[in-house]
Amino acid sequence: MKITVIGTGYVGLVSGICYAELGHDVYCVDKDAAKINTLQSGGIPIYEPGLQRLSLKNMDAGRLRFTTALAEAMPEADIVIMAVGTPSLPSGEADMSYIEAAASEVGAAMNGYKVICVKSTVPVGTNERVGRIVRERYDGPFDTASLPEFLREGTAVRDTLHPDRIVIGTDGSRAARILSDLHRPLTNQIVLTDIRSAEMIKYASNAFLATKISFINEIANICEKVGADVIEVAKGMGLDNRIGGSFLRAGIGYGGSCFPKDTKALIQIAGNVEYDFKLLKSVVEVNKQQRFGVLDKLGKALGDVRGTTVGVWGLAFKPETDDVREAPALEIIEQLIESDATVKVYDPIAMANFKRTFDHPRIVWCDSALDTAQDSDALCLLTEWKEFAAIDLGAVRAALARPILIDGRNVYDVQRVREAGLHYYPVGRPGHE
Ligand code: UGA
Repeated sequence: MKITVIGTGYVGLVSGICYAELGHDVYCVDKDAAKINTLQSGGIPIYEPGLQRLSLKNMDAGRLRFTTALAEAMPEADIVIMAVGTPSLPSGEADMSYIEAAASEVGAAMNGYKVICVKSTVPVGTNERVGRIVRERYDGPFDTASLPEFLREGTAVRDTLHPDRIVIGTDGSRAARILSDLHRPLTNQIVLTDIRSAEMIKYASNAFLATKISFINEIANICEKVGADVIEVAKGMGLDNRIGGSFLRAGIGYGGSCFPKDTKALIQIAGNVEYDFKLLKSVVEVNKQQRFGVLDKLGKALGDVRGTTVGVWGLAFKPETDDVREAPALEIIEQLIESDATVKVYDPIAMANFKRTFDHPRIVWCDSALDTAQDSDALCLLTEWKEFAAIDLGAVRAALARPILIDGRNVYDVQRVREAGLHYYPVGRPGHE
């Protein structure tokens, strides 16, 4: 099949490259000429394991092309996939201006039947709006479809090529058949549904996962007070198939470009139809507070944070990505600086992105994990990169001025940290008395 993907952000780029990997002819379009240049010359503008190899392989095979000109990519396409950004407006609502502009351009470039899919996460009713915009500029046959994406940053290629399920929302059997054929090699679990339900499945899935995280974080906070261990609790809960063990890792809360944005958007969508989504509002509130647990523990361990030097391990919102959007590290570091601490920071790959987002004369940018620990009064682990888990804790203890380790992601075995002589403060587990 011939596929045109509009937008080369995370979702668009990974999807486009993976469709090419399945043997389709793919054209990826983006207005950003610098991005397209990078892609055309074999580079990848985001950090995503495995993506560059697949891109190069499929470019060499002649199945994958990049362009800034939608008019060039449209004529041959059987399927058009819109994967442009839907950032949050100040109200929390999703900004639909990119989708609308893309729909209008697609309408102008239509030259025959195509399935126009929206992969961006969009409020219920958006596909219908896209259809109306296209119709204003083209009066031939076409179908619209909702094709929500469930990939995670860091494992995006694997998630796309081996999905748990594919959700296809259409209002016509022709589009349903074309999109089922496209995705059948990936999984037998294809959910064929109506457009509005497909749009809702995406928001409901992300909101539910965010709810699991805030739930286990609150359980962790209670565990700390009653002397239970949240890791044991999550294990015991997760073995019940009805609950499931994933997304029950307690820590400093969720960040990234999806959960924070989508939870707020769903609250707004509900509000627009006069429904007060109380549960999800609490999920967001709990998440906002959870990161400050690190600061409470730091305050307790140090007595006073003022004038101290605090080492921070991990700036990305999660490992295997350089993405710092809504990363808990941002606010934690801001607060530390406000409390007059000097902050030494290190992340294996997200340093440059973080520096672009937030910089301050009292941030010391370090070259390694041990360098960060050197002479610091305490160390806070905020992202569970493998290199932190594997580090020699004896060397960390020797480097630190005071033996304090705040673990925001429950990476270490309590006994191992104790043996290294560190005072350990994990989340929801018995730590230093
Ligand atoms: C998330 C969803 O998992 C994807 O299915 C979805 O497609 C994507 O959003 C999206 O809407 O585009 P992503 O944000 O890349 O993917 O990352 P996750 O692996 O889901 O992690 C999100 C956040 O939750 C991270 O900050 C992570 O540290 C946190 N988390 C995750 C926890 O605190 N505990 C857990 O048990 C799991």
